[in-house]
Amino acid sequence: FFSNVELVPGDPILGLTEAYNADTRATKVNLGVGIYYDEQGRIPLLKAVQQVEQSLAAAARPRGYLPIDGLPAYTQATRELLFGKDSPLLAAGRVATTQTVGGSGALRVGAELLRKVLPHATLALSNPSWENHRAVFSAAGFEVVDYTYFDAATHGVDFAGMLADLQKLQPGTTVLLHACCHNPTGADLTVEQWKQVAQVLKERQLFPFVDMAYQGFDKGIAEDAAAIGILVEAGIDSFIVASSYSKSFSLYGERVGALSVVAATAEQAKAVQSQVKRIIRTIYSSPSAHGASLVAGVLTSPELRGLWEDELRQMRERIHALRAGLVAKLAEQGRPEFAFISQQAGMFSYSGLSKAQVDRLRDEYGIYAVGTGRICVAALNQGNLEYVARAVAAVSA
Ligand code: LMR
Repeated sequence: FFSNVELVPGDPILGLTEAYNADTRATKVNLGVGIYYDEQGRIPLLKAVQQVEQSLAAAARPRGYLPIDGLPAYTQATRELLFGKDSPLLAAGRVATTQTVGGSGALRVGAELLRKVLPHATLALSNPSWENHRAVFSAAGFEVVDYTYFDAATHGVDFAGMLADLQKLQPGTTVLLHACCHNPTGADLTVEQWKQVAQVLKERQLFPFVDMAYQGFDKGIAEDAAAIGILVEAGIDSFIVASSYSKSFSLYGERVGALSVVAATAEQAKAVQSQVKRIIRTIYSSPSAHGASLVAGVLTSPELRGLWEDELRQMRERIHALRAGLVAKLAEQGRPEFAFISQQAGMFSYSGLSKAQVDRLRDEYGIYAVGTGRICVAALNQGNLEYVARAVAAVSA
């Protein structure tokens, strides 16, 4: 049966972790996958999460199925975190939030929904975007096109190019937007630029699909969600937000994500939710309970929520410090041109390293980065910073 099955290449991001794990060099560093590591090089288990986990274990509850659309306390808390507790949209019942298998699950379920309900399925992606965006939407039957985004000369956003490309899209096109901490570039829009983008989306009748995987990793929980409020204020009555707690709760393997669909009326939101449930039932039936229970437990307890916000703040401040540290170490190596790394936001930096330079980092130093030159700044620590800076300076000389 399988004699004609071709071997396909490994995943460009998760495949790196496999190669890293197999590497026996003691000095190896994984700057590939987007994971936040603490100063000891470990994935942190947040104290707020740990406390909920202990009380869940003590309660020894039975393990029934969750509803198809997930744990109600989780979806409600998620909606409030994304849109703000007092958002008129929530009061009007216009946001249908569903628990999904990570942010990727939200993207795929959202793509399946749009494929069903939109007259034509074209997705416009920033150039570049997260490697898996194209794959997820293509697999759901979308035609994928690019819009200009990154300016390699300034290491920031080519905003004029972006607006010009958005203007050219056919009405009804879905536009994937990174709410904050753009993956892979770390180059974000300003609030002013978001407002202009929202105007174009509205005028051209484009459908915003917002990917929000790093809320709280740049400026703060509300600040990093500013784009959502701007779309609402611009009068865009329907859009999608795919969100994830992998990073903000350090719960990568628990696959805690959510799909939030904003509709023009509560009635439409209900109809959309029924479609989403049907889609999920035919893929994985219902989501798993543990991760969602942890997140809901933290977000619904004022005390634990405060603790989590503090832990999240510490993670984001440490990333800012690591960026500054890398810039300083590279400057010591005679490479002040890497100063742009401090201007970028979130876990990633598009370092400007070429594929050949990334290959040298891996082969000669055991430092793993994505072939596009993306590095995960959140995997640095005081123990590897100097080593990484020396290696980057050497391969890019
Ligand atoms: C990343 O971009 O490294 C993360 O979002 C993890 C992943 O699934 O690719």
